Amino acid sequence: MPRPRRIEGYAIVSEDGMLANAAGVMPDSFKFEADRRFFEHGLDRVDVVVHGRHSHERQPRSYLRRRLILTRHVAAIAADPSNEKALFWNPAGASFEQALAALGTPGGSVGVIGGTDVFGMFLDRYDVFHLTRAPDVRLPGGRPVFPEVPARTPEDVLARHGLDRGRRQVLDPAKGLAVVSWQRSSQSER
Ligand SMILES: NC(=O)c1ccc[n+]([C@@H]2O[C@H](COP(=O)([O-])OP(=O)(O)OC[C@H]3O[C@@H](n4cnc5c(N)ncnc54)[C@H](OP(=O)(O)O)[C@@H]3O)[C@@H](O)[C@H]2O)c1
Repeated sequence: MPRPRRIEGYAIVSEDGMLANAAGVMPDSFKFEADRRFFEHGLDRVDVVVHGRHSHERQPRSYLRRRLILTRHVAAIAADPSNEKALFWNPAGASFEQALAALGTPGGSVGVIGGTDVFGMFLDRYDVFHLTRAPDVRLPGGRPVFPEVPARTPEDVLARHGLDRGRRQVLDPAKGLAVVSWQRSSQSER
């Protein structure tokens, strides 16, 4: 079964490593136009978007994208009756490669967009993980970017899974908003 060509992760995290607050909501103070643009342009370049049931990206071109939606409400792989470009996928019943093949995109490029457990599932497989840091936002008790956070920082988790700190891009200088693209070194396997 062909493997995906490239797997990228995209997340914006608070200073304490959270994706959302304790209620599973991203407050307005955590939404940044420059990050939204970076995220949207990134997803426009992938063949498939992968996310948990609560993490649809809700962008103007979302309807054009093929997607796998993780849920335990199906045994393995099932059609999404509301979207012919999407499949529901339960990793307990089918491999990622099987799900990509069922979607008609074996060997495609993939954008993983969360939440916590979905980001965690791919830690040993990312080619690159784009980690945006939102300055001055703290979401205590919130949903962490990876299951190991806050016991470890997000950066420490990425490094422990074979990713190296790569290019840093300032997305909004006035707000101090920047993204670091963590890259898998050529030596490490996935
Ligand atoms: N800041 C960011 O970059 C970012 C990124 C993503 C999400 N978020 C925010 O985070 C919040 C949602 O977080 P979340 O962690 O609850 O979201 P989530 O991963 O989108 O949704 C969780 C659901 O996904 C399914 N799922 C997850 N892992 C699975 C697995 N291994 N096998 C099968 N199904 C699985 C389950 O669905 P069922 O209940 O159907 O079984 C689970 O209840 C939202 O506010 C979202 O906007 C922020």
